[in-house]
Amino acid sequence: MTRMFTFDPAAYAPVLARQDFVHIPQGLSEEFYDIMCRQVDDYYQANRLKQHARGDKQQALYEFPSTAHYEEFLTTLGELGGLPAEKLVISERHIKGYEAGAAPRPMPHKDRHSTQLAVGFTVRAPEGSTLVLYPQGERSINLFGSWAELKSSLTEEHLPPGVLRNVPRVEIRDRPRDVVVFLGNQIWHARENGASTVMLYFKINASHSDPLGEDPRTPLVVQKTREMVELGDEELKGQVAILGRRVDYLQRRYSRDWQELHGVVLYGESHFTVDDDEWLLLQALDGRRPLRDVLQQLAGPSRHERLLNGVRRLAKRGVIDLLPGHANRETQGAQDWNARRSRDNASRLDAPERVVR
Ligand SMILES: [Fe+2]
Repeated sequence: MTRMFTFDPAAYAPVLARQDFVHIPQGLSEEFYDIMCRQVDDYYQANRLKQHARGDKQQALYEFPSTAHYEEFLTTLGELGGLPAEKLVISERHIKGYEAGAAPRPMPHKDRHSTQLAVGFTVRAPEGSTLVLYPQGERSINLFGSWAELKSSLTEEHLPPGVLRNVPRVEIRDRPRDVVVFLGNQIWHARENGASTVMLYFKINASHSDPLGEDPRTPLVVQKTREMVELGDEELKGQVAILGRRVDYLQRRYSRDWQELHGVVLYGESHFTVDDDEWLLLQALDGRRPLRDVLQQLAGPSRHERLLNGVRRLAKRGVIDLLPGHANRETQGAQDWNARRSRDNASRLDAPERVVR
């Protein structure tokens, strides 16, 4: 089969770890680039991608040419980003074409919470088209399920350009066949002079987050969860539960007269109320331990049956996903990953600059 990438991820992993972005010129093989261009042409000809409209999402999805390409993508990006390939979720994968009249200097933004890493393959880039990153700017993670929500949550002084005044710009003039990877949910970024640029974008994470349901493995996770809900108590206790892929956020909500409710919001849906036991259960899930251990931590044996029924109710609703206990492996959440990165980067401050081209 055709290889997707031309580079050794081990060579670029230290660069991404140090800078929190990496630009890999000609990182896509010529063969894959040709296939990708044909796919893009097909999409446009089918007139499916005039806009990445919500209702038209299915048609806008990029499909890997083969399973082997999909696996090469996961292995390479896993090694490049220091993330376990088997846990990688592709939470977005689509072709983005900038209109001929696109604003030349749009306001920088941050990607939604699930975008631990934004991965761009450059398809077409007219002269001057530039990805601008602000890795030395304000770096809090976007806690929201969209840029629009983050934007409306911030006051003027916490938005660009105010928050980026005097922050150095990193300008990446990417060319067709290039690969760019950066921390999308925390680095402010914008495409300048983007008119008529065409990108293939992937958003990935290793924290089981797939709000839009675009990861190729999500249907299997949903199906497995449905099957495991039917298991008897003892067998169910041997499985591992994790916060569902479509969970956008959890909330403690108060009415105007301060009556309190706990609830979960799946992406694009409304508040789903959970009781106090379920709230504690959700907080205790770590995606690693079998449910047996989680139940023991939470309550005495007399309450386990009730808690297991809570697991079933939440799993049927998509609030919890069930993973086979035997497949459970020590994994690393996004928080650990970010914490480790800041520690490593602090110790690297004195390291000499190295430019890899
Ligand atoms: Fe973005």
